[in-house]
Amino acid sequence: MREMRVERERERERNSNTMATQRRMSYINNSQTTTSQQIRPSIITWFIQRPYPIPFLLVIFLFLAWISLRTQHVSRTPPHSSHRDALANLVRFHSSHVAKDNRGWLFDPIALALDSGVSGGAVTCSSLHVGEIRPGKRRGNHRHHDCNETFLIWGAATRFRLENSRENDGYAEVTIGRDEIAVAASPVNTAHALVNIDSTRSIFFLGCQDNVINYNASSTDFNVWKDL
Ligand SMILES: *[C@@H]1O[C@H](CO)[C@@H](O)[C@H](O)[C@H]1NC(C)=O
Ligand SMILES: *[C@@H]1O[C@H](CO)[C@@H](O)[C@H](O)[C@H]1NC(C)=O
Repeated sequence: MREMRVERERERERNSNTMATQRRMSYINNSQTTTSQQIRPSIITWFIQRPYPIPFLLVIFLFLAWISLRTQHVSRTPPHSSHRDALANLVRFHSSHVAKDNRGWLFDPIALALDSGVSGGAVTCSSLHVGEIRPGKRRGNHRHHDCNETFLIWGAATRFRLENSRENDGYAEVTIGRDEIAVAASPVNTAHALVNIDSTRSIFFLGCQDNVINYNASSTDFNVWKDL
């Protein structure tokens, strides 16, 4: 009788030992799972282990490099000299330099042109044109015979071309940076063109003419330059 009880107690002890071992095992298993989750290959490792990862990565790298170069190309203020600006009858300002206060910029473009020594443009506005030029588009490329014109240009990287017989090509051309504001004057019988060379932004411009202009064939020559 006593032997049986002893035997039963031993059995219970063995059982509880087994359960403890199982618990320990399961704990170890759990912690192993956690560890293996932590060191599970990241998505990059997984990617590198794929067949042909290098050419694929190279293509992605080249694409990113191209994007970065393009962005830098556009946002960089292009090199210019005030000599070239004078040949294009233009004066430029960085937007932060013409800001009156923290609201932004405000000025009279006619007065600014005259104060900056840009002459030959309109000094009174009989006609006014305000416009947008989207990326890759152009306006102008014409010559008015019935007005002088003063331009205010801002908003995007812009190629501005003005007819100038003193230049070898017959014109002077400058690039206006996307954070610059330019005032330019195009005297009567002088061709002018604005080309948006920005990848994303629109050019905005104001054209002041000292005559009520008619865009007709006798008053304006159209498509002056074929290379624009
Ligand atoms: C243009 O400007 C000149 C002076 O620079 C002026 O003599 C002329 O009347 C202006 N207007 C036109 C339409 O030519
Ligand atoms: C063309 O424009 C000129 C100058 O503005 C004007 O004198 C002439 O009458 C216009 N011709 C036509 C056909 O509208």
